[in-house]
Amino acid sequence: MGKYIPEKILTNADLEKMVDTSDEWITTRTGIKERHIAAKEEATSDLAIKAAKEALKNAGIKAAELDMIIVATITPDMPFPSTATFVQASLGAKNAICFDISAACAGFIYGITIAQQFIARGTVKNALVIGAETLSRITDWQDRNTCVLFGDGAGAVVLGESKGSEILSAYLGADGSNTGLLNMPGGGSRHPATAQTVQDRMHYVKMDGNALFKIAVTSMADAALKALEKAGLKCAQVNWIIPHQANLRIINAVAKRLGFLNAQVYLNIEKYGNMSSACVAIAFCEAVQEGKIKKGDIVLLDAFGGGLVWGAVIIKW
Ligand code: ACO
Repeated sequence: MGKYIPEKILTNADLEKMVDTSDEWITTRTGIKERHIAAKEEATSDLAIKAAKEALKNAGIKAAELDMIIVATITPDMPFPSTATFVQASLGAKNAICFDISAACAGFIYGITIAQQFIARGTVKNALVIGAETLSRITDWQDRNTCVLFGDGAGAVVLGESKGSEILSAYLGADGSNTGLLNMPGGGSRHPATAQTVQDRMHYVKMDGNALFKIAVTSMADAALKALEKAGLKCAQVNWIIPHQANLRIINAVAKRLGFLNAQVYLNIEKYGNMSSACVAIAFCEAVQEGKIKKGDIVLLDAFGGGLVWGAVIIKW
């Protein structure tokens, strides 16, 4: 595993100077205190590459041994080619097939589930899965409803044939009837970039936070239960839940529904905010690096995001 967090920190106090908000509102409504913002010259692949290098080092394998690179992102360097190909070139992973997936905050969970299928079938030996985002580039810094929520970062894992750790089960879900609740309307084939789309601020995240809140809680709880059922496990057997870090109140509500104690829930939302696909990847990496997750622990990854999409994965560490 590896991670990369850009250096620059944007605090709630900084945001108070940019929009009509307060540290008190942001803290009590979201649990976020600060977030990191990529430097001007840093694109999503730059963050992804740094996380990937750390993951390769920790896995003890060379880039040339990778057969597959998946980058989960909603903020690719460009619409095409894939961000994964930029990562491949920089790492020198010339034997890896490359593609991106767009599954917003559930992107990392979708990514490792896809990679696992290839590995289980024996078509891929080593896969690099990265969740990387520069959400600051699609955040409307004049919109207090959204700009206080997002941050930038990248997390990466190398997956291979099991040497102890194992993915026990995965459950993925989607609901395309709610695409309007969270999207970036401009810049695609529906609304190609024009002076008008820029003027209408269509190249920024649009979100109905209230509606999403409720669906996030039910979908994350449901995904967790379905993944646990597939693994033949009960909530009480889970040692750690690594949830998507969109809102502390969402996380608490999910944990309460599932009967988890606060001590079982890994949190880093306070320092990073919502980094979409990078959240679960970074939180998982930190929980392991901090020694919280011990050998044999049952770990539940759980996320929800724009699409709508959601998913959960159960891992025996
Ligand atoms: N500072 C101060 N006041 C604010 C701010 C702010 N930054 N933002 C909104 N408000 C105001 C609103 O205008 C509103 O005022 P009004 O009552 O006068 O109209 C009031 O605060 C309450 O607003 P709500 O939207 O009801 O606040 P809520 O408690 O729902 O919190 C939030 C909003 C944080 C967005 C929450 O709804 C949320 O986290 N939603 C889920 C987000 C999510 O999970 N997204 C999916 C993942 S993201 C991805 O996929 C990229």
